[in-house]
Amino acid sequence: MKPAILVTRAVFPEILQLLAQHFEVESNQDDVIFSPQELAAKLQGKQGVFTTASARFNSDLLRQLPELKMIAQMAVGYDNIDVAACSAHAVMASNTPDVLNETTADFGWALLMATARRITESEHWLRAGHWHKWSYNGFLGADIHGSTLGVIGMGRIGQAIARRSMGFNMRVIYHNRSRLNAEQEAYANNASYVSKEDLLRSADHVVLVLPYSTASHHTIGAAELAAMKPTATLVNLARGGIVDDAALIAALRAKTIAAAGLDVFENEPKFHPDFLGLNNVVLTPHIASASEATRRAMAGCAAANLIAALSGQRPPNLLNQDVWKSKG
Ligand code: GLV
Repeated sequence: MKPAILVTRAVFPEILQLLAQHFEVESNQDDVIFSPQELAAKLQGKQGVFTTASARFNSDLLRQLPELKMIAQMAVGYDNIDVAACSAHAVMASNTPDVLNETTADFGWALLMATARRITESEHWLRAGHWHKWSYNGFLGADIHGSTLGVIGMGRIGQAIARRSMGFNMRVIYHNRSRLNAEQEAYANNASYVSKEDLLRSADHVVLVLPYSTASHHTIGAAELAAMKPTATLVNLARGGIVDDAALIAALRAKTIAAAGLDVFENEPKFHPDFLGLNNVVLTPHIASASEATRRAMAGCAAANLIAALSGQRPPNLLNQDVWKSKG
């Protein structure tokens, strides 16, 4: 008999067809968001789950699922999965690194440009019928070229963002849990490692690409926003919770920074409604990896991890190697 799996959210039909060659698949093409209780009920008797970051996997859930062997997440970030709890319950977990690096870096630039050069704000103004004459000081923004880019979280996506700054003749500074090696720094447009304080003080544009954890919660709060230049832009591509959104709203209102571009929010999709009343923020619905090719690649990667795990092979993107080792 084929192992039973749950696909927690709607996904490309060909991915369901691929999974059906290997598994008894319970899918959710109506894209219902399951409550924790519904998720626990749906996962009864399932050996695997193909999930997105919208479902939470913690010990409360895992202890109700003795048959579960593998959680394959279609995302690079996995703060919704308690990996230590997975290991404690001998459940493997995987993510989808690398396939989205370049697409996410492209989007980081789109958001930075739109924010610094006030693209969405001016478009809304135009659409609202306000454009009657050109003016010398209409929608003045901040230059990208020749400016200083500060990247907080210099992993693979951060490096891909930094590398793109070569074409804009920018200086790159970064802060990270650990310093990159010389080759990585050279690749990332000769990025210089600095303290978070120096980065916030010196950067014209700050881009956040670090993973969310309790340690990175509110990496940017009121004090950090106050340390930034009043002309600076802030871009959050990482996760809600890295920025204290209430503090950011206050800073954008008081113009202690110039503008922000946000693809992720605290409590998304129910983000703070006060963002909607601000002109100096560009808001996108968590779409940094959303190119056709990359979302397909992410889904294929998650499926490959699930298929490997449930056929006795090591999943290529296994997050908890300890579970694999303990299988002997
Ligand atoms: C998207 O946010 C991801 O983590 O892949």
